[in-house]
Amino acid sequence: MIEFKKVSKSFGQTVAADGIDITFADGEISVLIGPSGCGKTTLMKMINRLVDPDSGDIQIDGRSVLSLDPVELRRSIGYAIQEVGLFPHYSIFDNIALVPRLLKWPSMRVKDRVMELLDLVTLDESYADRYPAQLSGGERQRVGLARSLAADPGILLMDEPFGAIDPINRSTIHNTFLSIQEELKKTIVFVTHDMSEAVKLGDRVAILREGQILQFDTPEQILSNPESDFVADLLGKDRRIQILSLKRNSEYASMDDVVTVSADEDSLAVASALEQAGQAIAFVVGPDGKLQSRYYLDGQRVKFDGRPLHLDRKMDLRETLSVMLETGERMLPVTGKQRTFLGVIRLERLVEEVARL
Ligand SMILES: Nc1ncnc2c1ncn2[C@@H]1O[C@H](COP(=O)(O)OP(=O)(O)OP(=O)(O)O)[C@@H](O)[C@H]1O
Ligand SMILES: [Mg+2]
Repeated sequence: MIEFKKVSKSFGQTVAADGIDITFADGEISVLIGPSGCGKTTLMKMINRLVDPDSGDIQIDGRSVLSLDPVELRRSIGYAIQEVGLFPHYSIFDNIALVPRLLKWPSMRVKDRVMELLDLVTLDESYADRYPAQLSGGERQRVGLARSLAADPGILLMDEPFGAIDPINRSTIHNTFLSIQEELKKTIVFVTHDMSEAVKLGDRVAILREGQILQFDTPEQILSNPESDFVADLLGKDRRIQILSLKRNSEYASMDDVVTVSADEDSLAVASALEQAGQAIAFVVGPDGKLQSRYYLDGQRVKFDGRPLHLDRKMDLRETLSVMLETGERMLPVTGKQRTFLGVIRLERLVEEVARL
């Protein structure tokens, strides 16, 4: 647990931290977001003593960082930054091995650790001997992440670590990062400029302005109850839509009024089943519970679709909404492992959901 107690810091006339009280819980990702210059990096650097406060205290598990040796403290805390800070003349192996070697780990242990970390960030062994300039930006950020995890620190400070990656690679690295965190449960303080990144990654999100914390809450709370106009503006016009990205298809898939038929049903029987239920689509589900195909009404006629579009249960509702808008489908089936049919999501439900916020 990292606790800030009435922490203030100024640089000349600039107040970078103004009586900050905040606690970052163990095993959570706490995201800091706010306009440029509001004090995010300063707040983070006070945790590993790259910056010391003018007043107040910062405690890790009840011990003041000000009482600890800054060099040892830094080695015990992972740190990843946007520019990654890889050493260009060091191989990827040597870059990742940096802190374990400083901590004088035996070389076999260092080697095992580096290989394990490459695997964790989904880079294969062949990367070990390459140099930073031979990697893409996204790959370099993976190495940066691996390096910050190298000595298995309990705390990880990440200052816009994925800032320089394009949206597609960013989404991949987010997923890698989240599944790593699911396993490792580090205490992470994460700075970003990007609200959708904050909402996707944060267990809690802190909104900063001019050295103060305006709101610190779950993404859901922040999106649905922004505490001021400033926060609402920062969230942007699409905050109602953003909240959809917090919800998974699996939570919304419903069997209500869903018509399912077996594969040996003929289209007349399907037509009458649809008519009775007042529905336009029937899903063909096998005895194993898997989605096979669908029938749909086109005017008066029943048509067969052997390869129906279906959505994975882990997709979020925002993605689902955009698929519906793109394809014009008003109802789509949700599937689990190996196409197990879990129910449907209807466009009306999504619209209701947005309107309710
Ligand atoms: N070493 C320093 N000397 C003087 N002023 C500084 C120093 N470090 C930060 N500042 C000032 O303190 C304020 C907060 O800086 P900080 O780097 O914490 O902002 P930030 O929220 O991380 O911004 P950004 O989003 O642009 O990275 C800024 O006005 C900055 O200019
Ligand atoms: Mg910064």
